[in-house]
Amino acid sequence: MLKPYIPILLGTGREGRMSEKVAEYLLEKVKMFEFKTEILDVRDFVTSVTVPAWVENEQVKKWKEIVVNAQGFILVAPEYNHGYPGELKIWLDKALAEYKNKPLVVCSVSSGGFGGVRMFENLLPILHYLGFNVLGETISFSKVKDDFENPDYLKLDEKYFKQIEMMKNSLLLSVK
Ligand SMILES: Cc1cc2nc3c(=O)[nH]c(=O)nc-3n(C[C@H](O)[C@H](O)[C@H](O)COP(=O)(O)O)c2cc1C
Repeated sequence: MLKPYIPILLGTGREGRMSEKVAEYLLEKVKMFEFKTEILDVRDFVTSVTVPAWVENEQVKKWKEIVVNAQGFILVAPEYNHGYPGELKIWLDKALAEYKNKPLVVCSVSSGGFGGVRMFENLLPILHYLGFNVLGETISFSKVKDDFENPDYLKLDEKYFKQIEMMKNSLLLSVK
């Protein structure tokens, strides 16, 4: 069987983003599984204001092709003022019908103790509206600076590997 293509979406373009380190850690882990994966960076898809899904331009076309070819998604996004980064919404708005029933797992990130769960709760209705099959196996990366400034992957595995495996199993069960 062909490996499913499940990219990791990095949902913030902020200078100095810790979420990038989380995405890189996940990439190392997910590569061990039966997935084809890579990190897709919001910075490569969003340069300015909203360009909706019905506009025919290269950026929209490229994103829609990726979505059509992906069997699922792992979204890494931080919490900003209890919400999601604005650039993530601009990115997601570049497609709509293409998302229908595609499985998606959210990995939320924060420097505080709640791991970005308020961001996830604010994003959830939008992900549902867009048509994603949002899986329950979310992972919350709290205290991200403590863990990821100088990451020790063995320690991280102790904390997160079981959850990452559950995420992987859930994605594999859901891909078509
Ligand atoms: C504009 C802004 C707002 C933030 N708001 C919150 C927040 O509401 N809750 C929280 O736990 N952390 C908040 N943070 C801190 C982030 O959790 C922190 O920057 C963390 O490293 C994850 O985001 P990053 O990938 O941009 O680094 C905020 C950070 C920024 C830049």
